[in-house]
Amino acid sequence: MQKKYSLLISTLKDNLAECDSLNKLALIKSQYLGKQGKLTLEFGGIKDSKLSERKELGQVLNNIKIQINSLIDKKSESLANTNKKGQLNFFDVTLPGRNISSGSRHPISITINTITKILNNYGFTSVSGPEIEDEFYNFEALNIPASHPARDMHDTFYVTDNKLLRTHTSSVQIHTMLTNKPPLRIMTPGKVYRRDSDPTHSPMFHQIEGLCIDKDINFCQLKGLLINFIEQFFSKKMEIRFRPSYFPFTEPSAEIDIKFNNKWLEVLGCGIVHPNVLKNVKINHKQYTGFAFGLGIERLAMLKYGITDLRIFYDNDISFLSQFSVLK
Ligand code: PHE
Repeated sequence: MQKKYSLLISTLKDNLAECDSLNKLALIKSQYLGKQGKLTLEFGGIKDSKLSERKELGQVLNNIKIQINSLIDKKSESLANTNKKGQLNFFDVTLPGRNISSGSRHPISITINTITKILNNYGFTSVSGPEIEDEFYNFEALNIPASHPARDMHDTFYVTDNKLLRTHTSSVQIHTMLTNKPPLRIMTPGKVYRRDSDPTHSPMFHQIEGLCIDKDINFCQLKGLLINFIEQFFSKKMEIRFRPSYFPFTEPSAEIDIKFNNKWLEVLGCGIVHPNVLKNVKINHKQYTGFAFGLGIERLAMLKYGITDLRIFYDNDISFLSQFSVLK
């Protein structure tokens, strides 16, 4: 009876000799010991054999099973060993290492973080507003009625008759003053949109608006804050000038220019909040005054990092962007 099964063992040995992976070994194991395996079927046959032979047959099959298992276990061990050795031999120490490159923040994000950190120290907290705006928030409430010539400067992208891509972050002033009571100190970093495109203008750019509403606010405080802010931002003294200007939502108004490559570059608009704006948001303008400023983030980043064409911020050129990886 034992003989009958010696063929089973010898074919198994042949199979194992050809087997060169643990996956194949698992397959072989199932061909012998699995549910439909050769040996399993033999066990199933016990019940069909003569009563007198069943005991012996059972013992024989159990022996065979032990043999099969030990052959398979040995093969498994030897495969595991040769794999390890194979991998060791495969390791080529002369190959160049793989570079692990890590990402870095975009210079615009770095600049926003620097600005908000400084302003935060002066008590300003960050708020955001929608980029698609009603005319009311972008213009009317800011004292720019429909027929006002200042709207020309803000010629922009309309989504519908009344909805447009905001042209400045000043719209967030209105949202904030309508939903919060003074005293207020907010800053609002975000994207704005205009019909402009040249080396120092882009149809989309970033601004931060600052707004402070409180009792007894005056222009000196605004001027002091902005001079300190600029010096902290650049970590050095800069050549700056306040130039009288006009914005419908501030009175008096000014712009700050910074000297760059022997030219004055305008970086910021500011002024004392116009009483009409306070009236529009139902804040008592006799009790409260305020100042506001809006600065162009790309402009400040260009000045800080010596960039001459603003469009490079949006080219996604890795060799440009990766230079900022040392900054946070
Ligand atoms: N919103 C103005 C602009 O985009 C900047 C500004 C903000 C001016 C706040 C005065 C006060 O040009």
